[in-house]
Amino acid sequence: MKIAVVGTGYVGLVTGTCLAETGGQVMCVDIDEAKVEKMKNGIVPIYEPHLDVLFERNIKQGRLKFTTVLEDAIKDAELIFLALPTPPGEDGSADLSYVLGVAKHLGKIITDYKVIIDKSTVPVGTGEQVEAAVTEELDKRFGKDDPNRPDFDVVSNPEFLREGFAVDDFMKPDRVVVGAESERAIQLMEKLYKPFVRQGNPIIFMDVRSAELTKYAANSFLATKITFMNEIANLCELLGADVDKIRIGIGSDARIGKRFLFPGIGYGGSCFPKDVQALVKSAGQVEYDFRILNSVMEVNQKQKTIIVPKLKAYFDNDLSGKKIALWGLAFKPDTDDIREAPALYVIDELTATGAEVVAYDPEAMENVKGVIGDKITYADDHYEALKGADALVIATEWQIFRNPDFMHMANLLGNKAIFDGRNLYNLDEMKEYGFYYTSIGRNTVTPS
Ligand SMILES: NC(=O)c1ccc[n+]([C@@H]2O[C@H](COP(=O)([O-])OP(=O)(O)OC[C@H]3O[C@@H](n4cnc5c(N)ncnc54)[C@H](O)[C@@H]3O)[C@@H](O)[C@H]2O)c1
Repeated sequence: MKIAVVGTGYVGLVTGTCLAETGGQVMCVDIDEAKVEKMKNGIVPIYEPHLDVLFERNIKQGRLKFTTVLEDAIKDAELIFLALPTPPGEDGSADLSYVLGVAKHLGKIITDYKVIIDKSTVPVGTGEQVEAAVTEELDKRFGKDDPNRPDFDVVSNPEFLREGFAVDDFMKPDRVVVGAESERAIQLMEKLYKPFVRQGNPIIFMDVRSAELTKYAANSFLATKITFMNEIANLCELLGADVDKIRIGIGSDARIGKRFLFPGIGYGGSCFPKDVQALVKSAGQVEYDFRILNSVMEVNQKQKTIIVPKLKAYFDNDLSGKKIALWGLAFKPDTDDIREAPALYVIDELTATGAEVVAYDPEAMENVKGVIGDKITYADDHYEALKGADALVIATEWQIFRNPDFMHMANLLGNKAIFDGRNLYNLDEMKEYGFYYTSIGRNTVTPS
């Protein structure tokens, strides 16, 4: 099948590469010239596990190509994916200017039947806006009954991939959601996704509006689940209970499920924060007060910096001149994405108190340098960050941090204090090595 993918970020590049892997002829287009140049030279511009192998293979075999020119990308394509940013606008609702801008452009240039597939996360009604934008431009070019006027369909196909597992999630999705109302588009989408659902995982067809809302409902539900667990963890600390026990205790109930019950220092990333906010805004536009999500946002904001008061309490409210090692900058492991990363909020709070931060992250340091430069220093590896530090803060649960050499850590740290925002270590082990160790929703270990 001939496919164009507009936008080659975390979603677009994975989509394009995986569709090429199953035999599609894919042309990806992006306005970022430097990024396109990199991709043309065989360089994957983001860090996403396993993407490089597929990327290289499909370029070599001529199924995956890149351009900065929309006309070139869509010329032969029957299917056009929009994988464009939908960042929060000034009032928190989704900014649709990227999506509608490209829709308008498509209206100016399409010459034959196209399925325009919205993969970006967009509010209910966007499909209709895309249709109107294309139609408006076609009206300028063709009369209503002009036999040369190209036909098109708009489809909503929200993406559920997780960064860090994106290739696996795309190749073996739990489900594919397709909002489509024309039989022609439904058949094409079915054909496109058939290779990905061979094990019986469903392609769920529905109307466009429901598909658009399904994505927001999924992300908002998951954000609520995490936030609920974070609040239980905070309560555990006050009541002397252990959140790990509670997690196992409730997670074995099939109605609750084991996943997304790990407490931490709040959710971040490019999706949950903006999508929860956008759904609240969408609800507000139809005069619905989505109260539970307002609370989720409020609790999460506080959770992101919950570790800093613990440091302040430990250092008698004076962090100035303290050297704090920080493990983890990405908003979660296995990605270099730092959008809304809790670590950035922790850095802001720590540096505001006069503390010096030395950070290490396996993949995200370049991105952080690009945003905050030398506000902090960057270590070459996780142990180097500890040298002479007054405390270690853990903000991201990278595998490399899970089973470190505790004796070596104890020797490197100037002061053996660990503030763990991701509950990586066993309390008894921490006691054994003589650390002061505080985490989320569990007892604090103090050296005896
Ligand atoms: N990142 C995720 O994990 C994820 C998961 C599911 C859904 N989504 C949604 O998918 C959409 C894209 O997210 P992302 O994380 O891939 O974004 P991203 O910011 O990583 O990538 C967007 C890309 O679009 C390009 N772009 C902007 N304007 C363009 C234009 N006019 N023409 C061509 N390219 C253009 C940008 O240069 C960038 O490369 C968003 O709506 C997001 O909410 C993201």
